[in-house]
Amino acid sequence: MAAHFLASAACVLVITDGVMRPPAALLRTHMPAMAALEKDAVLSSQEGARAPSVVFGQQPPALTLLSPAKVNMFLRILRRRDDGYHELASLFQTVSLFDTLDFWLRAEEEPCEPDVPLCSMEVAEGSLCADLIPTDESNLVMRAMLLFAERTGSTQRLHCRLLKRIPAQAGLGGGSSDAATALHAANRLAGFPASEDELIRWGGELGSDVSFFLSRGTAYCTGRGELVEPVAPLQPARCWLIKPQIGLSTPQVFGALGLSAGEELPGADPQELLDQFSDSVDDAPYINDLEPPAFSLVPLLAELHADLGRLGFTAVMMSGSGTTFFCIGEPSPAAADTWQAELSGKYGVDIFGEAFCFRGDDPALWYAEQPTVPAAAAGGGAEPEGAAEGAAEAAEVRGAPPDGFEWGGIF
Ligand code: C5P
Repeated sequence: MAAHFLASAACVLVITDGVMRPPAALLRTHMPAMAALEKDAVLSSQEGARAPSVVFGQQPPALTLLSPAKVNMFLRILRRRDDGYHELASLFQTVSLFDTLDFWLRAEEEPCEPDVPLCSMEVAEGSLCADLIPTDESNLVMRAMLLFAERTGSTQRLHCRLLKRIPAQAGLGGGSSDAATALHAANRLAGFPASEDELIRWGGELGSDVSFFLSRGTAYCTGRGELVEPVAPLQPARCWLIKPQIGLSTPQVFGALGLSAGEELPGADPQELLDQFSDSVDDAPYINDLEPPAFSLVPLLAELHADLGRLGFTAVMMSGSGTTFFCIGEPSPAAADTWQAELSGKYGVDIFGEAFCFRGDDPALWYAEQPTVPAAAAGGGAEPEGAAEGAAEAAEVRGAPPDGFEWGGIF
C-alpha cells in the first residue's frame, strides 16, 4: 500500500517552512517539489501578473475570489436515510488553503450564437492535476453558473478560470467550495438578484457541502450537510493538512459504513460536542465517524493517523470522508525539525501549513479579501504585506450589494 501512495504521486509535494503566516504570504512559502504546481504560477496568481486566459488573453478579470478548503472539527453520522443519504451533524471550519477563481463577462452586445455557451470555464496553468479537471457541465463550477442563470433568468455570459490548489478526493470540500464561490460571483456580477438564503438553498441542490461555503466560515451543519447554522468563530488555530496521495470517493466511504436504510449509528451527542468545541478546540473530543470505514478501505491511513498522533499536536483527525488528516497546533519541540521530511519520506504525503480562516462580519467581503488569520494565530499583530492595497483593489472590482439587499436571516 505504501507503494501505492508513492506511485500515485502525480500531482505535487508541498512543504512549508513551519512559520506561521497569513494566507497570502503563506501561499508564497509553499515549495513544490514537482513541476505540476510551478512556483511562478502560485506567485503570479497572488500578485496579478498572470498567464493569459485562453479566452480573454491579458484582459483583467471582472472579479477574482479565493475559495477556501474546509475541515470537519467533528463529524457524527446519525442514521442512514431511506433516500440513501446519511443524516449527519458536523462542525465545519474553513481553512486557509485556497483555489482562485477569476471571472470575466462576455460583452452583452456580443451576439449569442448557438455554439457560444452561456457559461464556460478553463483550468489555469499550474493547477493541481489540471488534466483531470473537467470543464464541461460535470464540473460543479459550471453547474453553479448555469443553475444561477436558470433560477434568476440572468443572461450574463460568465467565463470562469479555476486555479486549483485544494486536492480532490481529500475530504477538504474543494469542488463544493468552488461551486459556492461561483454562485456568489454570479450573483455579485449580476447586481445581487438572489438573496443569500436562495444561494444557500441552490447550493444544497448542487451538493451536500456547497451551502456551508456560503457561511462565514464556521457552521454547524445537519441533514445531508446542507442545513447550515452559523456559529461564533472558533478560537484561532494553526491547522496543518496532511494529504496522502491516495484519495477516497465520498460515496465509497459512506457505503463502507454498511448501514441499512433507517439504521442508526450510536455515539456522542452532537449538541454536546458543539458546546465543547465552542468552549475550546484544545480540550474538545475529536470524533469522525467516517474514520473507521475509510481506514477499512485504506489500512495505511490508520498507520499514518497513529504516526501523526505521536508527534504531539493538540489534535489529529481525518477530515470528512478523507483522506486528508488535519493537525491542530504544533508538533512537540523534539519533532519540530524533522517530522515533515520523515512523513513525506514514509508516506509520500503533501503537507500544507495552514490556519482557520474566517469571512468576517462585513457581508460585502468574501473569503480572504481581508487578512483572515487572526493575529493571535499568526504569532504577531502585523498585517500581511500588501494587505491594505489588496483590500482596496478588491473593493474596486467586487461591487457592493445595493441598499436593501437581503442577506438572509442566518448570518
Ligand atoms: O451531496 P453530494 O453529491 O456531495 O454527495 C455525494 C455522495 O456522498 C452521495 O451520493 C452519497 O452517496 C454520499 N453522501 C451520503 N450522505 C451525506 C452526504 C453524501 O451518503 N450526508
